[in-house]
Amino acid sequence: MGLLGAADLPAAGVPASLADFFVAEDRSQIVGAIGIERYGQAALLRSAVVAPVARGTGVGAALVRRLLGHARECGVVELYLLTTTAEQYFPRFGFVQIARAEVPDGVRGSVEFREACPASAVVMRRMLDPEEVQR
Ligand SMILES: CC(C)(COP(=O)(O)OP(=O)(O)OC[C@H]1O[C@@H](n2cnc3c(N)ncnc32)[C@H](O)[C@@H]1OP(=O)(O)O)[C@@H](O)C(=O)NCCC(=O)NCCS
Repeated sequence: MGLLGAADLPAAGVPASLADFFVAEDRSQIVGAIGIERYGQAALLRSAVVAPVARGTGVGAALVRRLLGHARECGVVELYLLTTTAEQYFPRFGFVQIARAEVPDGVRGSVEFREACPASAVVMRRMLDPEEVQR
């Protein structure tokens, strides 16, 4: 939660149960985190963050790839995210910008969509193919 606050990311609605969250560690320090909230076959990617000292070294990419694999294993076929800071980062992982109206109701009802992220945030989607091999 400290990393999220330091990066100005919302912690509201981040679940107390972290089954769908991953962290990156370096010498017992948590240097990154990422997670999903699941809504059936759709999910919301949340809280992608890397500590400033560890940025630019591939930690973020490793976390995103790990999460894509996990989401696929869970049967997620549509992965959404909201961002005000990283819309130029996520296309390299196959995310494309979409309109809010294209987001399914479950995801749109999440705390992040309703309360935590500004209306100006960019919405992105990554379709997941269960047969796809994650590199
Ligand atoms: C976005 C973030 C998670 C990326 O993590 P990272 O570990 O630094 O990223 P990687 O090392 O995997 O990738 C580095 C590359 O991504 C680019 N990059 C990093 N953050 C970026 C951003 N916000 N927008 C565009 N490009 C970005 C770097 O310029 C670098 O580019 P290069 O490969 O051409 O050299 C990290 O910068 C961060 O925590 N930012 C603050 C929180 C945030 O914006 N989270 C996203 C919320 S949805």
